[in-house]
Amino acid sequence: MSGTSSLLPIGVFDSGVGGLTVARAVADRLPVEPLLYLGDTARVPYGGKSPATVLHYTRQALAFFRRRGVKLVVIACNTASAAALPALSSESPVPLVGVVEPGARAAAERSRGAVGVIGTRTTVASGSYEAALNTLRPGLSIHARPCPLFVPLAEEGWLTGPVPRWVAQSYLEPLKDSGVDTLVLGCTHYPLLKGVIAQVMGPGVELVDSAEETARAVAERLTERGLARPLGAPPAEHRFFSTDISDTIKALAAKFFGRPIEKLEPAELEGEA
Ligand code: DGL
Repeated sequence: MSGTSSLLPIGVFDSGVGGLTVARAVADRLPVEPLLYLGDTARVPYGGKSPATVLHYTRQALAFFRRRGVKLVVIACNTASAAALPALSSESPVPLVGVVEPGARAAAERSRGAVGVIGTRTTVASGSYEAALNTLRPGLSIHARPCPLFVPLAEEGWLTGPVPRWVAQSYLEPLKDSGVDTLVLGCTHYPLLKGVIAQVMGPGVELVDSAEETARAVAERLTERGLARPLGAPPAEHRFFSTDISDTIKALAAKFFGRPIEKLEPAELEGEA
């Protein structure tokens, strides 16, 4: 790759604004790297859609990034990573980093033998976390469960109190009973509910936040490929694109990114490849 490539931004894609938890982790770890974020807010959620539809939408997102020029794309959405990344890796001219492998790697390294995985229905049905965990550490006992109501709870800001606690208990008690010692938060939204999830699972269960692990994987991949932005380059300026824009989306975006977002720019994916 040329020196010019290293100056290009990193593309970060998600079905909506949830992937800003991953963008935030990347921005914190790599403060000199500019990010070009794309959230498909017009078509979110992806979590219950068929793998073929998620693949089609993700391919369109990659075409969007190709037109703008990025040096690497983070598929920050677990559902898109699970349903589309294997097929798209061979088509993409730039490296793709998904969230499944980094999360699975961290869990495989830390677990004492039994791992729980929570995510959307499509992520869990894909079996991609199981496949990654089995490759990284054969013999692990793996228990996966979809937790679809966590997404609207996080978006509504219902992060504490009786309702999230009751929902978390209903979803997580069976995982707790099966004796998992490590739990992968396999969805962009779940880190916001870490508090209630930790309460229900108890102190003996370690939570793996894929966002932090993915940021580490991005840093490694940039270094491997000689794509890290040189020291002394102009300061990073991030841009945020969204296929639908409203006051609610703007407020949610700032909440997930953990800091104000000055401008959300419109994006159109329907016409992309
Ligand atoms: N971004 C999705 C994920 O991480 C959650 C929201 C959705 O269902 O689109 O799986």
